[in-house]
Amino acid sequence: MKGVTVITHPLVQHNLTRLRDKRTRPQEFRRVLSEMAALMLHEATRSFGLLPVSVQTPLASARGFRLRREVVLVPILRAGLGMLDSILQLIPNARVGFIGLKREETTQRAMFYHKSLPPDLREFEVILIDPMLATGGSAVAAMDLLSELGARHVRMVNLIAAPEGIRHLRRHYPTLPIFTATVDKKLNDKGFILPGLGDAGDRLFGV
Ligand code: PRP
Repeated sequence: MKGVTVITHPLVQHNLTRLRDKRTRPQEFRRVLSEMAALMLHEATRSFGLLPVSVQTPLASARGFRLRREVVLVPILRAGLGMLDSILQLIPNARVGFIGLKREETTQRAMFYHKSLPPDLREFEVILIDPMLATGGSAVAAMDLLSELGARHVRMVNLIAAPEGIRHLRRHYPTLPIFTATVDKKLNDKGFILPGLGDAGDRLFGV
């Protein structure tokens, strides 16, 4: 699918399978999800812009680079939290914004319950983080909010995407780059991804 990068790195695929396994307990689930987020971040940030700079080594001057834009990480609560820490370790000076969205069980509509973001995102590189892209309702709501705040350079990192969710997100944000470990088969009638891994938030936090 256009604009969707499936990260096929063997460690990502190996870990994805452990997360899918219903026997994987929250403690291991948290650790594996965190490791995967770090592995996926390398691919997701490959196109970050750089600016040339010069740096003085102990011996001479060298040419180098720095990131063109500051980074804002935006996990969608709760499940996005499971990918935040390891990404922050790789980009320690990133700012962090939070979007709280909960999908209503009956309507499957995503409702905001928390928003905490820098007020102007125009100059930032924004990474939207959510392990699951199911109907795409949460991602579209999050993107609407990021757009209201002026975000122009956004990419989404997720773990498992459903074709329905990608299509929905594509209709609203056709150029948003999506990085995922897999595009699964479909949604069931409750809006859960099949085969998926169940409810990522519940499995992370043992609820
Ligand atoms: C799940 C998941 C995504 C969202 C995806 O979160 O973690 O955020 O649903 O579904 P969608 O693409 O159909 O919107 P949920 O709302 O269950 O909240 P949680 O992370 O707190 O469990």
